[in-house]
Amino acid sequence: MSHPPAPSAPSPALPRACSFPETEWRALARHWYPFAYSDELDAGKPVARTLLDEPLIAYRSSARRVVVARDLCIHRGVPLHLGWQEGDELVCAYHGFRYGADGRCTAIPAQPDLPVPKKLCLSTVASIERHGLVWVCLAPDPASPSAAPGASLPDWPELADPAYRMMHAEPQDWECTPGRQLENFIDVAHFSWIHAGTFGNRERPEVPPYEVQRTAGGFRVDYRYLASNPESAKTASTAGGVIQRRMIYDLHLPLACRLVIDYGDGRRHCVFDAPTPVSRRKTRVFHFVARNFDPHIPAEEVLAFERKVLAEDKPIVESQRPEDLPLDLSEEFHIRCDRFSAAYRDALRELGFGRDFSA
Ligand code: FES
Ligand SMILES: [Fe+2]
Repeated sequence: MSHPPAPSAPSPALPRACSFPETEWRALARHWYPFAYSDELDAGKPVARTLLDEPLIAYRSSARRVVVARDLCIHRGVPLHLGWQEGDELVCAYHGFRYGADGRCTAIPAQPDLPVPKKLCLSTVASIERHGLVWVCLAPDPASPSAAPGASLPDWPELADPAYRMMHAEPQDWECTPGRQLENFIDVAHFSWIHAGTFGNRERPEVPPYEVQRTAGGFRVDYRYLASNPESAKTASTAGGVIQRRMIYDLHLPLACRLVIDYGDGRRHCVFDAPTPVSRRKTRVFHFVARNFDPHIPAEEVLAFERKVLAEDKPIVESQRPEDLPLDLSEEFHIRCDRFSAAYRDALRELGFGRDFSA
């Protein structure tokens, strides 16, 4: 279900402590990003997080509607996450103002006999709940799908298919830019090196030629890799030994990708990666899986393996310099196997992101 911002929502001013160049912030703000996993809001407690330097708060009302607003009580500028949720309302910790699911203030306890001014309203932002995630767009005018690839949400049918089990842990905070993180996710040449402890095959570092197909939302790459699970990484869900992996990437611009690992016998293990720009050099990584086999294996075991893979990537990505993804292809050295990331960088430039894509 999609919820537009309240009609009174002002067009977005830059956040107070905006770390992005203004044009880049405005370009990024027109896209949708995961804010939370849906079930994070099920505990009846608001979740407060920053997106593009904007502190936000989200909660679920009794009608199961998700409300997302700027995390600020407009009475005296106190963050609402210091208060609490009571039924369908947020209560501010400082003077007890209450705000309803439409963002409007419903009560001012210090003057119960006076009407609440109509313009006393939180600044709500647009949200959509889909794929087990709450997605948020800060701009009142999301980039339209026809105008630019990647403007809508990605199409991930496995997440609506009961044959698949979705599994996720907490989103992770990385000290890097989301562009670098996503490019790492689509990089096919690094498996044999930094992933030798999980699935990388040190004996097979060569990258055979592959095609990068343009799609409505971004790109598709169909790649084969002879993976090797070392004994130390063997679990009930990884076969151990050497195994041919067909890896189908569907990148959805600007910052989301699904990787389907197809074992060729009907078993499909899908990995989803959606890095969200917190600030210019901070990223919240929504990385989760869905698979249609081995329902008896505890989710924690599957996720432990994914965490191990991510832990191999993280220090490398956090160390990359420049932190920004250089969209000018002359700035780094590209080899044949980098054609996926080169296409990705070109597409980001076409979307209007800056010379140094800082998000
Ligand atoms: S600052 Fe929130 S009620 Fe006063
Ligand atoms: Fe990796």
